Amino acid sequence: MRYRTRLCVDFNVLGENFSFLKTLVPKNEILFMVKANAYGHGMVPIVQYANKVLGIKEFGVATIEEGAYLRDSLSNCEFEVYVFSDIQLDLGVNWNIYRSRRITPVLSRLEDLKTFLENRSYNHIPLVLKYNTGMNRLGISDKDLEKSIGLLKKYNRTHISHLMSHFSSSFLSINKVKKTNNQFRVFKELKKIFRDNGITVEKSSISNSGAIEQKFGLEESHVRPGLILYGPSSLSSDFREKSLWKGKNISSLETTIISTFNVKKGDPLGYGAIPCPEDGLVGIVSIGYGDGFLSSYQGATFSFKGRPARVVGRISMDMAHILFPPSLKNDVHVGETFRIWGEDSSELLDLSDELKRIPYELFCQLSPRIPRVYNLTQ
Ligand SMILES: Cc1ncc(COP(=O)(O)O)c(C=O)c1O
Repeated sequence: MRYRTRLCVDFNVLGENFSFLKTLVPKNEILFMVKANAYGHGMVPIVQYANKVLGIKEFGVATIEEGAYLRDSLSNCEFEVYVFSDIQLDLGVNWNIYRSRRITPVLSRLEDLKTFLENRSYNHIPLVLKYNTGMNRLGISDKDLEKSIGLLKKYNRTHISHLMSHFSSSFLSINKVKKTNNQFRVFKELKKIFRDNGITVEKSSISNSGAIEQKFGLEESHVRPGLILYGPSSLSSDFREKSLWKGKNISSLETTIISTFNVKKGDPLGYGAIPCPEDGLVGIVSIGYGDGFLSSYQGATFSFKGRPARVVGRISMDMAHILFPPSLKNDVHVGETFRIWGEDSSELLDLSDELKRIPYELFCQLSPRIPRVYNLTQ
């Protein structure tokens, strides 16, 4: 069997992206965000390569299930895994999962900090705290700051293993939009408050891709990149040209042309008998909304053999209509590969801009039905 619709993931490119990242953040440790199945690329193979070959030692996931799955799948690898969102400390049984699998919950609510400190089973798990500096999503709030310090003192905790916060707006110009600077100022004040209370902060991080692309927040011991390591810039389209990031996509999304026919403007196409907008040649490609090629891709444009091609008609579950211009009439063949995005990150960013989506979504919406095929060219 040959996979004719697939996400080809190239570890060499991940390696190149990592090397480039190190030129931007030579002094920082990397906590690589691999939640949502490594942004759709396959968490286990990505972490295995990042850990064994690139030497990355810390990874971030969203849920305890993701953390447990990662640990169980790679029990022979040495790395730390942090759970950022759905830590489920309120479910009593989970202390055992955290302890036995060496997974660290990121505590982002006062109630979770209390549970963590009260339960002696968590004693040997690093204390990792995330504070809200203005994102207003997860994070211990400033109104709970004093109480959290009180709790740390009550339980004689004089060290925070890793102090974190998260930027809400680093995809915008940090020079122009005050928000990121304000959050960073609050974060620095927070560190001082801990110091003044005799609490040592061992490691700290706040910068995600957008901040890294603008070399911001690098005074902290760690950075937490997600998107950029997979390829694309995370900056907003109107500001992207200012990005210091020069990565390539680690993945190419490819499908196959499984049928072709000539069409005239107005010919009905597929469900709803949508009239074809122009004369040309239609190629049916073997990808549809069941694969994550959503109906919102209707109208999207791609480049094929240097000419524009676009999605016409309504997208089906397993197929879509691509309209090629008449000049390509003799150059589109059944069995040929049709590439939706490739190594050039700007293609994927153009597509996400055109669809009014973010590149994160384009990656994450790919369904499990799309095989992830890994290659490592020498
Ligand atoms: C807490 C936290 N840190 C870092 C990241 C990485 O963000 P990005 O993919 O924009 O680099 C995320 C991603 O959602 C996150 O939730």
